[in-house]
Amino acid sequence: MPIIVLSKVSETRMHLSARRQEKPRNVVLVPTMGALHEGHAQLIRQARELAGDEGTVVVSIFVNSTQFGPNEDLDRYPRSLDRDSEVCQDCGADLIFAPGSADMYAPDHSFDVRETGLSMGLCGASRSGHFPGVCLVVLKLFNIVHPTHAVFGKKDYQQLAVIRRLVRDLNVPVEIVGGETVREEDGLAMSSRNANLTDAERRDAPGIQEALQAGRARWEKLPDIAPGLLIRLVRSRLEQISSGQIDYLELVDGETLHSVHGVIEKPVVMATAMFFSKARLIDNIEFGPKAQTG
Ligand code: PAJ
Repeated sequence: MPIIVLSKVSETRMHLSARRQEKPRNVVLVPTMGALHEGHAQLIRQARELAGDEGTVVVSIFVNSTQFGPNEDLDRYPRSLDRDSEVCQDCGADLIFAPGSADMYAPDHSFDVRETGLSMGLCGASRSGHFPGVCLVVLKLFNIVHPTHAVFGKKDYQQLAVIRRLVRDLNVPVEIVGGETVREEDGLAMSSRNANLTDAERRDAPGIQEALQAGRARWEKLPDIAPGLLIRLVRSRLEQISSGQIDYLELVDGETLHSVHGVIEKPVVMATAMFFSKARLIDNIEFGPKAQTG
């Protein structure tokens, strides 16, 4: 069956509510900004698994202006709905919700969804309006689609943590599921922004993940190592990427996203962002003792 593409909020609501009456099963949402690559494709396949044969997989495609800062790449953000529809169809999605800006935001929209803890550091520190914009649009998508589950990638680790917090603190009845980061063969995390790298930058960029892996390897050898030393080691590797400039590099608690001081006793994330001439890339790596269960 060809995939259904809807752009209006009301028709999407009507379509999903009819489907829900017919098959009261899981509705799994994968929010995206389009320009879909294998990382998104993997999340859509994961959503298909979660939905089962009877459930519904919805992919939203919306380049959300409210999460871009004034000097960021909103105008340059790639748009490719025809190709994206093929990816969604191949990965087993049932419906694409692809609204225009006017469908999502009234000209005088005036609500703000501001998280005041997890979103303050890391990417939030250098992109102040970013997470309020993400939270606003994701909450709107939840209210439009009413998913039972929503899948977000761990590549945007802070985003995933902030959305988990949004759902917990605002009692949104949806289960958030994390998806593993999909990488190019040389280790570079897939991102639509990789297309904005020059050839030289593209050759250098896998160094980001290599540096993070060197940090994890050092911790595996020396689990008592001071976080400051780990950061210094990884920072010096990142500094060797001559075409890029470090925005931040931090070692944080995997749950609270607070900086880690002292011996690493819980799962942690080392996260970084680097500026290249026309792209800002982020990546992270998880390590540390496994979370205690039971
Ligand atoms: P976008 O950058 O299009 O990403 C959509 C989803 O794909 C996010 O959950 C992101 O973490 C995930 N993703 C991106 N690259 C990935 C990779 N290499 N491997 C696995 N997953 C990957 O993130 C956004 O859009 C927006 O902020 C959004 C949540 C849609 C709100 O506008």
